[in-house]
Amino acid sequence: MSFTVAIDGPAAAGKGTISRSVAAEFGLAHLDTGLLYRAVGRRVLDGADAIAAAEALTAQDLENPEALRTAEVAQAASRVAVMPEVRAHLLAFQRSFAARDGGAVLDGRDIGTVICPEAEVKLFVTASAEVRAERRYLELSAKGSDVSRAQVLADVRERDARDAGREAAPMVAAETAVLIDTSEMDIAAAVAAACDAVRAALAAKG
Ligand code: CDP
Ligand code: CDP
Repeated sequence: MSFTVAIDGPAAAGKGTISRSVAAEFGLAHLDTGLLYRAVGRRVLDGADAIAAAEALTAQDLENPEALRTAEVAQAASRVAVMPEVRAHLLAFQRSFAARDGGAVLDGRDIGTVICPEAEVKLFVTASAEVRAERRYLELSAKGSDVSRAQVLADVRERDARDAGREAAPMVAAETAVLIDTSEMDIAAAVAAACDAVRAALAAKG
């Protein structure tokens, strides 16, 4: 049986945390689609052509996600993500992941709108830019990065504007998406809200 949970939203809203918990709770596979764009962005920082890098991307490129979770790679990812050819090369991998037997959770920016418009569950997870930037700042500084709060907030705002403003698959809530604003929610509450939506969809599917 295929069963897809699509989770979209801006940087550091809690998509990954919620996705991992939902996947564990319901026994679904999970794909963080941001890693695909980050892997292409990493290659471009190393001098590669973005479209060729997207075409050549394999699952192996995603095996070391921690190396891809830097502020520099996030910006590079958002710059390659505006290119329709890059997005087109990454489409089939995401669609076949979503269609796997047993069901899947995918998180990103365009899952509910472009990658899986037929997903049984669509969530749009958001929070204020200030709250998201503080979360990302804490994460990056815990990993030893000497980035400043102000720089992280500026980066988050720049990426939000580019992701929402681009022509190709812009970040936008799908019409039927359940909105989860985590600005004043802890992780447990956000996960509970997501699990409620999944449970309702599973019950409706029978
Ligand atoms: O995947 P995304 O970039 O949307 O966010 P994330 O990696 O799941 O979460 C970013 C950071 O915010 C992590 O350190 C989470 O633990 C934290 N977080 C939080 O403090 N409260 C929430 N309600 C959700 C996430
Ligand atoms: O973890 P965080 O939310 O900060 O970023 P991410 O999900 O790893 O995504 C990095 C960048 O990839 C985003 O800023 C988008 O530009 C791009 N992206 C996208 O365009 N479409 C997706 N489905 C996922 C990510």
